[in-house]
Amino acid sequence: MAGMKRSNSFKGYSLLIICFMHCVAVRSQLTTDFYSKTCPSLLSIVRRQVQSAVKTEMRMAASLLRLHFHDCFVNGCDASVLLDGDNTTEKFALANLNSARGFEVVDAIKSAVENACSGVVSCADILAIAARDSVVLSGGPTWRVLLGRRDGLISNATLANDALPSPFEALDAIIQKYVNVGLNITDVVSLSGGHTIGLAKCATFSNRLFNFSGTGAPDTTLEASMLSDLQSFCPVNGDGNKTTVLDRNSTDLFDNHYFQNLLNGKGLLGSDQILYSSDLAISTTKSLVESYSSNSQLFFNDFANSMIKMGNISPLTGSNGQIRTNCRAVNS
Ligand code: HEM
Ligand SMILES: *[C@@H]1O[C@H](CO)[C@@H](O)[C@H](O)[C@H]1NC(C)=O
Ligand SMILES: *[C@@H]1O[C@H](CO)[C@@H](O)[C@H](O)[C@H]1NC(C)=O
Ligand SMILES: *[C@@H]1O[C@H](CO)[C@@H](O)[C@H](O)[C@H]1NC(C)=O
Ligand SMILES: *[C@@H]1O[C@H](CO)[C@@H](O)[C@H](O)[C@H]1NC(C)=O
Ligand SMILES: *[C@@H]1O[C@H](CO)[C@@H](O)[C@H](O)[C@H]1NC(C)=O
Ligand SMILES: *[C@@H]1O[C@H](CO)[C@@H](O)[C@H](O)[C@H]1NC(C)=O
Repeated sequence: MAGMKRSNSFKGYSLLIICFMHCVAVRSQLTTDFYSKTCPSLLSIVRRQVQSAVKTEMRMAASLLRLHFHDCFVNGCDASVLLDGDNTTEKFALANLNSARGFEVVDAIKSAVENACSGVVSCADILAIAARDSVVLSGGPTWRVLLGRRDGLISNATLANDALPSPFEALDAIIQKYVNVGLNITDVVSLSGGHTIGLAKCATFSNRLFNFSGTGAPDTTLEASMLSDLQSFCPVNGDGNKTTVLDRNSTDLFDNHYFQNLLNGKGLLGSDQILYSSDLAISTTKSLVESYSSNSQLFFNDFANSMIKMGNISPLTGSNGQIRTNCRAVNS
C-alpha cells in the first residue's frame, strides 16, 4: 500500500514537471498505459469477461455501455453507480431503478482482474474498458481507453436524478445536462447513437402513444406503422416493464441505423426523436443527425471521441478516492 502511494505521488510529480515544461492548459491525468506495469493483462482480462457475458446475453453489451454513461454523468466517472446501499444511493435514482443492469457482470470482471493483479485496478476504469469492449463486440468503433481513475466514496440518488437526462425532457434541458458535465451538442448527438443497441421499457416511451403531453393524441413525430405496433405492444394500463428494441432495424448491431430511424420518425424515445424533429433541433442537432445517418464513419469517429470525453468527466486521480476491493462497497 505504502509503495503504491509512493509510486502514485511520484507519477503525479513527474506529470507536474512535464506540465511545467509543456502544458498551457491543465491536462487530464488519465493515460492509456496507466496499468502497463501494475496490471499488464488488464485489457485482455476485461475483454475476455465481456466477451463471455455478451455470448451469454447479447443485450449485456448495451447494459454495460449504459452503466459507464450513468457513472460518468453523476459525480464523474468514479464507479458511484455500482455502490449498493439504502434508497439514497444512485441505484435508486429514477433512471436506474429496475433499469440499470450488468452489476453481476462487473463483479465477475472485477474478480477476474483482482485474481491477476490485486488491489490496483479501479472499478471506474473497469466500467470504461467494458463499455469500449461492448461497443467493439457489437460492431462499433474502437478507441484507446484512458485509465487511472479512482473510485469514489459516495453515491447519491438526488445527484443522479439531477444529472441524468430523462426520456421525457425537452431538448434544451437535455443539452443543458451535457453542458453541465463539459460536453457539447456534438456529444449529445453522437452519444445518443448509443441507442443503436439495447432495449427500453414501455414506461419510458408510452407517454407518446395515446395522449402525448395532454394533447389527447399520439406524438405526431412518431411514424404511423411503428406507432400502431407500439400501441398494441404497450396498451394503456399494460405492463410498463415490457421491453422492446431501441433500434428496430438492427438491435444488436452498433451501426448508424439509429440516425436513419430518426429521419423516418422511428426513434423510440421522445428524447431520441426530438434530436431530429423538434423546433430547437433545427438550430442545434438536426444537421448532425442527418450527417451521421448518411456517414457511418463520421458517426463512429465522433462517437469514439465523445466516449473519451465522457470518460474524462471529473475523474478522481492521484491519491483521491480509493481502489475498491468490491465494486459494490466502499473499502472498510
Ligand atoms: C438524452 C440522453 C439519454 C436519455 C434520455 C436516455 C434514456 C434511456 C432510456 C429511458 C433507456 C431505457 C431504459 C429502460 O427502459 O430500462 C435507455 C437505454 C439505453 N441507453 Fe440511454 N439515454 C440517453 C443517453 C444515452 C447515452 C449517452 C448512452 C451511451 C453512450 C446511452 C446508452 C443506452 C443503452 C446502450 C441503452 C440500452 C440498455 C440496455 O438494453 O440494458 N444512453 N436510455
Ligand atoms: C427510503 O427508506 C426510508 C427508510 O427505510 C423510508 O422512510 C423512505 O420513505 C424511503 N424513501 C423512498 C423514496 O423510497
Ligand atoms: C445528496 O446530494 C444532495 C444535493 O447535493 C444533498 O442535498 C444531499 O444531502 C445528499 N445526500 C446524501 C445522503 O449525501
Ligand atoms: C464539441 O467539442 C469537440 C471537441 O471536444 C469539437 O470538435 C466540436 O466541434 C464541438 N462541437 C460543437 C457543436 O461545438
Ligand atoms: C389527455 O391528458 C390530459 C392531461 O393529462 C387530460 O386532461 C385529457 O383528458 C387526456 N385526454 C384523453 C383523450 O385522454
Ligand atoms: C416494474 O417492476 C418493478 C419490480 O418488479 C416494479 O416495482 C415496478 O412497479 C414495475 N414498473 C412498472 C412501470 O410496471
Ligand atoms: C429498416 O427497416 C425497414 C423496415 O423493415 C426497411 O424498410 C429499411 O430499409 C431498413 N433500413 C435499414 C437501413 O436497414
